[in-house]
Amino acid sequence: MQPSGVTADVTHSGQWEGRPAAQQPEWRDHSAYKVSCRILGSAPPLVPAAEVRQLRWSLADLLTTDALLLQLGDCAESLYECTPRHTAQKLQVIDRLGSRFSELTGRRVIRVGRMGGQFAKPRSQPTENHGALAIPSFRGHMINSELAVPQTRRPDPRRMVWAYEAGSAVQRAMRAQRRGDGRPSTTDGPWSSHEALVVDYESRLIRRDPDTDELYLGSTHLPWVGERTRQPAQAHVALLSAVVNPVGCKIGPTADVSDILRVCEALDPGREPGRLVLIPRMGHQRIQQTLPPIVRAVANAGHPVVWLSDPMHGNTVTSGLGLKTRHLADVITEALRFRDIVEGLRQHAAGLHVEVAADDVTECIGGPVENEDGLLRHYTTLCDPRLNADQATELIEAWAKGTG
Ligand code: PEP
Ligand code: CO
Repeated sequence: MQPSGVTADVTHSGQWEGRPAAQQPEWRDHSAYKVSCRILGSAPPLVPAAEVRQLRWSLADLLTTDALLLQLGDCAESLYECTPRHTAQKLQVIDRLGSRFSELTGRRVIRVGRMGGQFAKPRSQPTENHGALAIPSFRGHMINSELAVPQTRRPDPRRMVWAYEAGSAVQRAMRAQRRGDGRPSTTDGPWSSHEALVVDYESRLIRRDPDTDELYLGSTHLPWVGERTRQPAQAHVALLSAVVNPVGCKIGPTADVSDILRVCEALDPGREPGRLVLIPRMGHQRIQQTLPPIVRAVANAGHPVVWLSDPMHGNTVTSGLGLKTRHLADVITEALRFRDIVEGLRQHAAGLHVEVAADDVTECIGGPVENEDGLLRHYTTLCDPRLNADQATELIEAWAKGTG
């Protein structure tokens, strides 16, 4: 059953309206635009407010108990892989890696999936070349199709409704897993998360918490703003500052300390534990220069932050075969440097945000994938290269080795 929720009374009057929003599909002139927005605006929320509150408490508790957070999943979820079988497989991998992390570190581990809404991708380039043809880039199944055909790359707002329906099925499976077949609900997850990228989608899923009257984002438990959309005065940050969910923010290698302080002020003006998750993704070489002044400044500003390492997005390279890949060794180096820097500044290094596939992909080099040729065996990602579960286990083991 869907959680009940008050229908949207706020979606057209937010403080994000009228602000510039990067990375948005151009689809307002599509004949299905208005009806798609209307459907979302009157749909039940995908997650109930009480669960969002529960995750916030858990994250606040994490800060005082030195617990860990593990956020895992696809770079881009596929609408075709939201079946019960696929979802069960993904949840199994999250559970297995979460349990292993907990066993190795002796700490409680809160599990979060990049699931139930991770259907939209920011892109560095608006077009891709296919032979002599430049076609619009694939932007995730919420926006267009991965098929390299100009017509199917046209943004289609009906895809927001399909994403909502698919996300709803995934959320139901996640909720069933949290309830553990009749056992009391666990606060260790798996909770849902995605990048809050498409303002048309996210803004229509803002709802009012029936118990507190506060606004919350009903599309997911833990939304985050990406590296390309975290401008402090623009729409994405404004949207997430209007809701009470715990919220994440990616931080890339060119981040400016004062910009990050402005984002933190916008998202966490009350300095509330459990509200803000900061996710550096700087690359194994840049992190040592770039991260320390940011951690120091944020701590001095008084934000109680859940610091999470995304050791994937700053370490993407193109292989000789032209495939995007990542070297597990670089990923591990960044994660360990992150932990040392954050702990060295007496902050809590809370864990990892990692792109992991549920099946045995060969998209990153390391462990069972010995070299570039090995990438060809099973390279299926819709977007960025993911670790397989064996590679992710190596990463977790490397982190755990240094846990004091
Ligand atoms: C992602 O997490 O898939 C992503 C696009 O990240 P970033 O915003 O850090 O580039
Ligand atoms: Co990615």
